[in-house]
Amino acid sequence: MQNPQQIQGVSLESIAHEFGTPVYVYDGEKIVEQIETLQKAFSSVPFKIKYATKALSNLSVLKLIKNAGAGIDAVSIEEVKLGMMAGFEAPEIMYTPSGVPFEEIREAVDLGVIVNLDSIPLIREFGKTYGGSVPACIRINPHILAGGNHKISVGHVESKFGISIDLLPEIVEAVNEYGLKIWGLHVHTGSDIYDAEVFLKGGNVLFEAAMQFPELKFLDFGGGFKVAYKEGDPSTDVMEVGRIVTKAFEAFCRKYGRSLELWIEPGKFLVSAAGLLLVKTAVVKSSTTITFAGVDSGLNHLIRPMMYEAYHDIYNLSNPEGKLEKYNIVGYICETDTLAAHRQLPEIRPNDLLVIKNAGAYGYSMASNYNSRLRPAEVLVWQGKAHLIRKREEFEDLTRNQVLIEI
Ligand code: LLP
Repeated sequence: MQNPQQIQGVSLESIAHEFGTPVYVYDGEKIVEQIETLQKAFSSVPFKIKYATKALSNLSVLKLIKNAGAGIDAVSIEEVKLGMMAGFEAPEIMYTPSGVPFEEIREAVDLGVIVNLDSIPLIREFGKTYGGSVPACIRINPHILAGGNHKISVGHVESKFGISIDLLPEIVEAVNEYGLKIWGLHVHTGSDIYDAEVFLKGGNVLFEAAMQFPELKFLDFGGGFKVAYKEGDPSTDVMEVGRIVTKAFEAFCRKYGRSLELWIEPGKFLVSAAGLLLVKTAVVKSSTTITFAGVDSGLNHLIRPMMYEAYHDIYNLSNPEGKLEKYNIVGYICETDTLAAHRQLPEIRPNDLLVIKNAGAYGYSMASNYNSRLRPAEVLVWQGKAHLIRKREEFEDLTRNQVLIEI
């Protein structure tokens, strides 16, 4: 894996200098390339990408994704609104909530986006309220166990998501009772799925269910393509997924005379490798067995290592030729927020800039103010220029919504 010193000719050092650290930096061209790769992989069928907004929801990134020809999948009404603010038309937005109050569904319908129904009670309430006047999608739980770890495996039989494929007769009964117009069926099995066959398995569940819904316009195969987090780490062969999935999809459509669109919802595949978190070393200290490099960031900015034991490659931008030593890279949070353990890296000195890779997906979007720390800035490199796309938080942001009462 490469350790770039620059993005589109803009040096990372100059970005740190101009915008400070910690800072999330995204390579806009890389995001567009990923979209184009998927468009190529699925080009033999009518195809739509619905980017999983939750991975990285900055407005400028959304706008870039919109201009590159994708739509979005939104999992909250706030993501729907962000999408619209970034320029997506309502019909380009799929709303995939998980167990939300019906008022939120109503709001989404009023905004004109298509809602992905994920329980039988919701199908019934939707049916009672709208009958066949508002088209909808149904999220099926395909009973497939797949994904990088249990927390991100969401298509198995014990997962809270979707409606069990075993309940297909009950789904059909509820849909028919209210005359619902079902335009789409959806599965999403999990994240970090390496094996292309899993997407086909999910597809087979969609095909089985699709037989019951004559008005369908699309089948949504979900997201979850695995990206490489380190040297030698396998990643999903999306060309292979495209080949096998489109072949089965075409065969299904031909056999049953259906004319459908194929949708997918990638998050990580579009933005993970395009993003990095640039941090500065504050302190280097050694215990008897370990040398720690403490940086101006932590689990409040990148929770993946602590939450999923995720591996993020890190390199020393300031001293690439330094003598190799072993380090634990740790954050400043008052918890054991080890960002990387036992890493062999060129000597790290105070004030060295370190680059944490693959931070585009589920980095900023999962960041918090834990320890009353401020969230970092976000910078998008686009057309050879670094643009600030979110200001670093300031102390006032922490107190803005607090009410200090008389005590
Ligand atoms: N569609 C739905 C309905 C989803 O729930 C998700 C992710 C995606 C698409 C996109 O999955 P992706 O292509 O990004 O793997 N925070 C975790 C990942 C959680 C994914 C949640 N759902 C992580 O950092 O690994």
